[in-house]
Amino acid sequence: MKKITKAVIPAAGLGTRMLPISRTVPKEILPIVDRPSMEYLVREAVESGITDILIITGRNKEVIENYFDYSIEYKDTLEAKGKIAELEDMRRVCSLANVYFLRQKEAKGLGHAVLCAEKFIGDEPFAVLYGDDVMVAEKPVTKQLCEAYEKYGKAVVGVCEVPYEDLKKYCSMKVEPICERTYMTTDMVEKPQTKEEMFSNLSILGRVVLTPDIFDILKNTPYGRGGELQLTDAMKQLARTVGVISYEYEGRRYDMGSKLGFLKANVEMALQHPELKDSFGAYLKELVKTL
Ligand code: UTP
Repeated sequence: MKKITKAVIPAAGLGTRMLPISRTVPKEILPIVDRPSMEYLVREAVESGITDILIITGRNKEVIENYFDYSIEYKDTLEAKGKIAELEDMRRVCSLANVYFLRQKEAKGLGHAVLCAEKFIGDEPFAVLYGDDVMVAEKPVTKQLCEAYEKYGKAVVGVCEVPYEDLKKYCSMKVEPICERTYMTTDMVEKPQTKEEMFSNLSILGRVVLTPDIFDILKNTPYGRGGELQLTDAMKQLARTVGVISYEYEGRRYDMGSKLGFLKANVEMALQHPELKDSFGAYLKELVKTL
């Protein structure tokens, strides 16, 4: 089976759940303590064996590109100040992978963003990391999915259990268990509104590995909810025709596109941050006493 070496990170959405900040700072570059969430995604891809990453951006998203660019001003200043660790860190970030950027001219949905990557991907399987979902896991979540692809030779969607009452906001997968954490999937429904419409409480969250036939499917998929080209509609087609694998990944997911997810990521990572964990932990302990 062909090794997966390319990934697409769609990051061109308008981020309406993070307004007003998202009007000027893309949610995909919001910090987790001191590092932008996008760096976590790029690192996850690299640690999963990906060498070439295409980030789909849009207007007002140039800061994402700037972050991965080597900054001469900082190099000179850091050298002059003897801040060698910071200089090394900048070097490392800028040379993590071959990172490419492409603009989605209009935010016409996640499916449309993925379709923009067709030329870059060519005829290969590839990973998609949803740009506002940060994952923390012992084995990178993308790697878990790539391994499932290598085993089964089918598109793999990363799934999690979602409480039935929340399923209305997500999608629901029709599954048959194959082995631990792994299910054959033959259908799915996006945002089911009634219990009868729901297949299971497994939903796609944040990561998928797709086969290149998804591009032709996307081109023939009508624009759906909200006038957007929905990636789930195309993946449903793939599930119904050739079947896809649902893989219940191990890891903690932070939805950086929501205010609560952004706050949870910052609090939890600050409690692990070598410089901050003691002082921030002490502060939090005092704070909870006042609640
Ligand atoms: P979301 O649906 O979470 O992003 O897409 P959104 O549309 O920005 O969110 P809200 O609901 O308005 O807050 C998941 C990922 O896909 C990207 C987003 O940037 C996000 O990282 N995306 C979404 C695109 O690249 N293009 C789009 O047209 C839509």
